[in-house]
Amino acid sequence: MKIYLAPMEGITGYVYRNALFSCFDHIDRYYTPFVVSTFTKKLKTRERTDVLPQNNAGIPLIPQILSNNAEEFLETARFMAKCGYTEVNLNLGCPVRTVTAKRKGSGFLAYPDELDAFLEKICRGAEDISVQQADEDTAPLRISIKTRLGIQKPGEFKHLLEIYNRYPLAELIIHARTQKELYNGRPHLELCQAIAENCRLPLCWNGNIRTLADYERILPLLKGYSAVMIGRGLIADPGLARQIRTGVPTSKEDLLHFHDVLYKGYQAQYMNFRGDRPGETVLVNRMKEVWNHMGTMLRDEGRYMKNIHKARNKVEYEAAVRMLFANCPLTGTYDGLRPDTHAADLNA
Ligand SMILES: Cc1cc2nc3c(=O)[nH]c(=O)nc-3n(C[C@H](O)[C@H](O)[C@H](O)COP(=O)(O)O)c2cc1C
Repeated sequence: MKIYLAPMEGITGYVYRNALFSCFDHIDRYYTPFVVSTFTKKLKTRERTDVLPQNNAGIPLIPQILSNNAEEFLETARFMAKCGYTEVNLNLGCPVRTVTAKRKGSGFLAYPDELDAFLEKICRGAEDISVQQADEDTAPLRISIKTRLGIQKPGEFKHLLEIYNRYPLAELIIHARTQKELYNGRPHLELCQAIAENCRLPLCWNGNIRTLADYERILPLLKGYSAVMIGRGLIADPGLARQIRTGVPTSKEDLLHFHDVLYKGYQAQYMNFRGDRPGETVLVNRMKEVWNHMGTMLRDEGRYMKNIHKARNKVEYEAAVRMLFANCPLTGTYDGLRPDTHAADLNA
């Protein structure tokens, strides 16, 4: 079973990916947070910086594109191919209103006929985008999809799957929630077998794998799947993939080392970039975002983490982190698929 890092806008940018890759790795693929497709080939500076090969050296990376316009998608896909990427991923999962209102992300799932026509055009177009494979041969650019189950009800997925099955997609990554469910509650584990039985594409499962125990419980249910994608679980415990692969859990020293590498990476990105107070604010806010998840790794009575979230500058932030690591022991993370709440699913 392969392990992928889920794309998470605001967290899993190139600095984060490089820190994870250098400190832990054991991750088979990394996905960028979505870039918005454009006609002009001109990505925003932030999006462009994030995908540039020199910022992702050695990392097996798949850029993700948000689009509902085939020509725009192909234009952006051509740019990615020129950068050396052999696959791009289409985002059909984003539930944010500003995105769905434009019929993009999971918003596109409400228009199956248009989606079908769009997939036909991009799959045909991708045949003319030639990319270099590892063995030096050339092949067409591959397209994979990351999708939710539908808008309101998971039953909507039956028709969507019929559409996906018509195309030569490299992989179908299933975030097993509907748009309405956002990131809440449990994913629809009860559907994972039915999906596998009716899908002719390589499959990846995504949703609520947060611990080794979650992974071990879900594994027997994932017959027909070749990969799992993990988001919040890996941000909480950056050593989770290593633990799944080798059994070695994340130690406090590992966590501190990862923190320091990440913090140094963000300093290089934000402090040098602007060299002023706003850069420092962005730096501290980036770290706070990571601590929203990674904070579950340390047993804190509330006081030390609060100081991290109150920090307004580097000096305050660094002091708060020092106190956190000095005073809080390692703890287990939240168990995203624990049996007491999900017994019915896991026994299905
Ligand atoms: C803050 C945040 C940002 C996200 N950004 C993206 C994104 O850019 N593209 C995407 O496909 N999914 C995005 N996701 C969804 C995750 O990739 C993943 O599908 C979701 O978190 C469920 O997996 P998990 O339970 O392992 O976290 C985002 C989720 C969160 C919480």
